[in-house]
This record gives sequence, C-alpha cells and structure tokens, in this order.
Amino acid sequence: MSTAVVYCSQTGYTRTYARWLAESLGTEALPFERRDEAAASGADTLVFLSWFHAGGLKGAKWLRGLMDAQPGKRYVVVGVGAYPMPSEDWPQSDTDEAFERAFPRERYSALKHFYCQGGFDFDRLCTLDKLAMRAFFRMQAKAAETDPRIAFALESMKQGFDGTNRAYLQPVLDYLGA
Ligand SMILES: Cc1cc2nc3c(=O)[nH]c(=O)nc-3n(C[C@H](O)[C@H](O)[C@H](O)COP(=O)(O)O)c2cc1C
Repeated sequence: MSTAVVYCSQTGYTRTYARWLAESLGTEALPFERRDEAAASGADTLVFLSWFHAGGLKGAKWLRGLMDAQPGKRYVVVGVGAYPMPSEDWPQSDTDEAFERAFPRERYSALKHFYCQGGFDFDRLCTLDKLAMRAFFRMQAKAAETDPRIAFALESMKQGFDGTNRAYLQPVLDYLGA
C-alpha cells in the first residue's frame, strides 16, 4: 500500500502536520503546487491536509475533482483550524459543519476525515486575509462581551498561538494502519 500526502497551507501549521504525517509514513509531503504529482503517483491512498477558511476548506474543489476522476483511490482529509480539539466546550459539530460544507454528506458520506488544531499568526497572513480578520475581530467584539468561548477564541487569535501537536495525528495513523 502506498500513500501520497498533499497539503495546502498559508501560515505553516498545516505544513507542519503534513511533514509529521509524511515522516511517520516514510513518504514526502507535497505542497499544493505539486498536487498533480500526487494525483499522478498511482498511490492507493491520498491524504489531503488543508486549513479551514471562513467555514470552508481550502483546496476542497481540487480534491472533489480528483475523487471524480480517480474514484478507485482511498481518500482521507485532515482539516486544520483555529478551533481547539473537540471537547465538551468545543464540540466536534463545529468542525464537522465546516467539513460538510466542503464535502456535503449526501455525496461524501464515505470520505474519512479528521481534525487537528493549527494555530494563528496574523503577521503571516496575506493582505486580503488580514483585512478579513480585522473585520472579523470587529464583528466578534460585541459577542465576546457575553460569550466566554468567543472571548477566548478572539483573544487567542489576537495574541497568536501555535496549537499544533504531533499526537493529534495518531488517529490518522491508526486509521491508515501505520
Ligand atoms: C480569513 C481566515 C478565516 C479562517 N476561518 C476559519 C474557520 O472557519 N474555522 C477555523 O477553525 N479556523 C479558521 N481560520 C484559522 C485557520 O484555519 C488556522 O489559522 C490554520 O492553522 C491555518 O493553517 P495554515 O497555517 O496551514 O495556513 C481562519 C483563518 C483565516 C486567516
């Protein structure tokens, strides 16, 4: 069984997970610019790691196209976002909802997916995302006054954080049988 690892990342947290995963699997983590190599590699399994962006998953369109073109492959998605790992305070439903927006359940019920917490680094964002985040911070400020969850998330993002943890990939490795 061979596995290809492709990742899409802006500020580096998803790249970190992709490199950890590739290292554990004894393969190379291919950046999104080299996605065609992964598609053409003939690997039985393709793991796509990408980051949540405004409730969607970057690069999902490419993966949907590849799944149509190469239905015989096994696909696994690892979504990386700013949300903490699922817990009582931060239910899985938050990240599942974003995943299902990119891969609607009616069509992709069999697509295996995992979540890993990334981080946030305002200075490394592209100009457009900086503008979007400034607007988002302003929008959330009012809600943060009454919702401690929102206040926590807002403060973490404003200060910046690195929530990556190699252990979060263990369920992915278990699933892949590695
Ligand atoms: C404009 C923008 C929108 C975002 N939207 C979401 C989101 O909807 N859900 C989420 O969990 N994280 C969201 N994030 C946080 C990123 O997914 C997080 O910072 C991730 O670690 C970035 O990965 P990267 O370092 O590989 O680019 C957003 C970040 C930006 C800049």
